[in-house]
Amino acid sequence: MSEFRCKLVKTVDDSYDIEIGRGLEGRLIDDIAGGAFGKIRNFAVITDTNVMELYGAKICEELKNNGFNAHLFVIQAGELSKTRETKSFIEDSMLGAGLRRDCMVIAVGGGVVSDLAGFVAGTFGRGVPFIIYSTTLLSAADASIGGKVAVDTPLATNQIGVFYQPKKVYIDIAAWMTLPAREIRCGLAETIKHACIADKEFFEYLENNIGKVFEFDLEVCENIAKRNCEIKYNVVMRDEREQNLRAVLNLGHTVGRATETASGYALLHGEAVAIGLSAQLKLAERYGYISHENARRVEDLLVKAGLPITIPKSIRKQLIIDKLYTDKKVRDGKLRFVFQKEIGDMMCFDGSYTAEVCENDVAVVLTQM
Ligand SMILES: NC(=O)c1ccc[n+]([C@@H]2O[C@H](COP(=O)([O-])OP(=O)(O)OC[C@H]3O[C@@H](n4cnc5c(N)ncnc54)[C@H](O)[C@@H]3O)[C@@H](O)[C@H]2O)c1
Repeated sequence: MSEFRCKLVKTVDDSYDIEIGRGLEGRLIDDIAGGAFGKIRNFAVITDTNVMELYGAKICEELKNNGFNAHLFVIQAGELSKTRETKSFIEDSMLGAGLRRDCMVIAVGGGVVSDLAGFVAGTFGRGVPFIIYSTTLLSAADASIGGKVAVDTPLATNQIGVFYQPKKVYIDIAAWMTLPAREIRCGLAETIKHACIADKEFFEYLENNIGKVFEFDLEVCENIAKRNCEIKYNVVMRDEREQNLRAVLNLGHTVGRATETASGYALLHGEAVAIGLSAQLKLAERYGYISHENARRVEDLLVKAGLPITIPKSIRKQLIIDKLYTDKKVRDGKLRFVFQKEIGDMMCFDGSYTAEVCENDVAVVLTQM
C-alpha cells in the first residue's frame, strides 16, 4: 500500500467593494476600462426581460463603445427563470458566442439575475470573475452580499448552488425609481428583517422613515442600502459557510420560503418573508422570546411597509407544513427555526442559533394567520 497526501492549505482574500450611488453605469465602465478587474476584454452581460431595456442593453453597448467584446444574455423576468434549465441555456449561449475562461460575467438586475448569473460565473470554465450591478432594493439589501448563488428546483428554492463572491457590487439607488412599488415593499421586508436581527436603532429609524422610501428620498434610500450591507456583512464575515451564526439571516424564511413555494410563486419572495416573519413572531411570543408589545411593533412596521402578515386563503396550510420539511435547517426530520430576541437581537440556544420546533405549534400559529 502507498499513500500520498495532497496538501492544499488555502489563504483566500475574497474582499470586494460595494459602491452605493445613483446611476452607476458610468462608474462601472470606468472601473473596467481603468483595469480595476485586470485585463479582461470579454464580457457576458446577463440581465432579464424587464431590466434589459432599462439598464442591461445600455451597459452592454457602453462596453462595446469602449472597445470591449460584450454579449447580452437575457432571461425571462421572474423567479421561475431561476432554474438549472436557464443556467444551461445561458452557459450554452455563452459558449456559442465564443466566450471562454478569460471572460467576466456582469449581472445586471435583481436577486434572480445575480443568483443565476453568479452561479453561472462560479461554474463556467470552473469559475470566472463576476460583478453585480444591483437594480432592486431587495438585492441591495440581501442578494448582493454574502456570495450565495443558486437556482431553484421544483422541490426547493436555492438548494443547488455554490458560494462564490463577486469582484464588486454596484448598488444603483436611482434604479429603485423604476421599480414597481410591490418590489420596493419586498426589499423592505428584508430590511425590516435585518433591523430585527441586529439593530434596534435602525428599527426605530425605519418606523420613522419607511414611507420616505416610496418618495425616493435619496438620503433615506442610501442610508437604508448602507445599513443593510453593514448588518448582512457583519453576519456573513463571521460565518460565510453558514455553520451557525449565518442562520440568523434566515429569520422569517422558514415559513416564508414554504409559503412562497406553496403559492406557486404568486407571492413574491419579500411578501412571503413578511408572512414568515409574522409566523416567527407568533411562535416567539408563544415561547416567551419576545413581548406582545414588540411583536406587534414589528407587525405594525410590516403593515406600514404595505406587506402582508396573513396567509392568502388560496394557499392550503397543510401544503405550507409539507413544504417546511424541505427547509435547509431541518435536522433528523425535525423542523428548526431561528427566533428574534425582542428587537435587534437573536435567540441563541446552547450555542446554536436554530431551535427545534414541533409541527403542532407551527400548525396552531398558521391557523391563526
Ligand atoms: N443570494 C442571496 O443571498 C439572496 C438573498 C435574498 C434573496 N435572494 C434571491 O433574490 C431573489 C429576489 O430578488 P429580487 O426581488 O431582486 O428579484 P428579481 O430579480 O426577480 O427582481 C424583481 C422584479 O423587478 C424587476 N426589476 C429589477 N430591477 C428593476 C428596475 N430597476 N426597474 C424595474 N423593474 C426592475 C425584475 O425584472 C423582476 O420582475 C429571489 O430569487 C431570492 O431567492 C438571494
